[in-house]
Amino acid sequence: MAAMPTFRPTRLLVTGGAGFIGSAVVRGILARADAKPSLERVVVLDALTYAGHEVNLEGCEDDARFAFVEGDICDRGLVERLFAEHAIDSVLHLAAESHVDRSIESAEAFIRTNVNGTFTLLDAARRAWDGKAGDAARFVHVSTDEVFGALGDTGVFTETTAYAPNSPYAASKAASDLLVRSYFRTYGLPALVTNTCNNYGPRQLPEKLIPLMITNAAEDKKLPVYGEGRQIREWLHVDDHAEGLWAALVRGTPGESYLFGSGEELNNKQMVELIADTVDEHLGRDPSTSRGLMHYVPDRKGHDFRYAIDASKAERELGWSAKKKLAAELRETVRWYLANEAWRRTVSSEEHRRFQRAYYGHAESRGTAGEGESKR
Ligand SMILES: NC(=O)c1ccc[n+]([C@@H]2O[C@H](COP(=O)([O-])OP(=O)(O)OC[C@H]3O[C@@H](n4cnc5c(N)ncnc54)[C@H](O)[C@@H]3O)[C@@H](O)[C@H]2O)c1
Repeated sequence: MAAMPTFRPTRLLVTGGAGFIGSAVVRGILARADAKPSLERVVVLDALTYAGHEVNLEGCEDDARFAFVEGDICDRGLVERLFAEHAIDSVLHLAAESHVDRSIESAEAFIRTNVNGTFTLLDAARRAWDGKAGDAARFVHVSTDEVFGALGDTGVFTETTAYAPNSPYAASKAASDLLVRSYFRTYGLPALVTNTCNNYGPRQLPEKLIPLMITNAAEDKKLPVYGEGRQIREWLHVDDHAEGLWAALVRGTPGESYLFGSGEELNNKQMVELIADTVDEHLGRDPSTSRGLMHYVPDRKGHDFRYAIDASKAERELGWSAKKKLAAELRETVRWYLANEAWRRTVSSEEHRRFQRAYYGHAESRGTAGEGESKR
């Protein structure tokens, strides 16, 4: 039995709402019956970078509570204005640079958005909520399990695992988590952190492992796998994550952190094989057509071996657990990408293609343009 809500959001700001997880969160919240009595406004703030697309929020504008603002979380004037104009009492902060490989090419945008942007939001919230009681506002910062570094064959991350980020992406997220902690400890800002394993589901940009492999297989392009494909990841459906973020918002305790995971682990080779088989099945192709497209490329620099999560605190304190099973949901996910070719074309921006060419397309050993295994 889930504990009773301790906070009821009325005027919610969702940053990064046009991205993969953010759009699932916004859609989920607008559809919630239990949010309806108190929720008056959902304001999405998104800079629409190469990773953010309004098409992900299609249909949300039909809800009178929804407002979309194109803008940067680093723009202090804009952020302060939004807090004041919409009388924001709650924040789900998802806006981020999120792709590990991009952070290896250049970390600058990651430091700017993930560190400075989070600081700007925290500081605006602190000023806007100054004098409000702790139970009158909430700030939920959405983060990753990558802040904990890498595990070996055994063990799991818990909320008390020491931070040991290895990629510039993970380091920028770790820095933002620590800023959130400091704003709680120093100013009493009612903020909390969530750390989550790899997500999958509809509307994820095909730079990340699962949608990239599905679209490449469908288009008869190579399926590059880093190293020997031995890296192990835990996979959580994006709707389960969205449900967890709502639970953290309404039942989470400020100053705490919560880990969300599914317990479903696969190594990258197994995941690519599963996708390959599922795509062949959906397209009515000979089995192993897509497996024939798999090839191994030099490993990512500093590639973490394994991530795994103990989600028992979220279960105990938030009444949350993952409901969706990978076996069934991966089939649905493959079906969604194959059925939504127009979406795939819309989100494939020039910048997305540039990075694919520059990072994965330059060396023969990495294959041709448009390829590259990517974490997340
Ligand atoms: N995808 C995963 O598996 C995963 C797992 C754990 C945690 N996370 C975290 O969840 C959050 C969302 O991840 P995602 O996969 O949806 O990412 P995404 O890249 O799909 O979306 C990020 C969104 O943020 C927006 N954005 C980027 N910079 C911005 C800026 N300066 N100002 C305003 N908006 C900006 C983009 O336009 C985009 O809409 C991130 O904070 C990420 O670190 C993701």
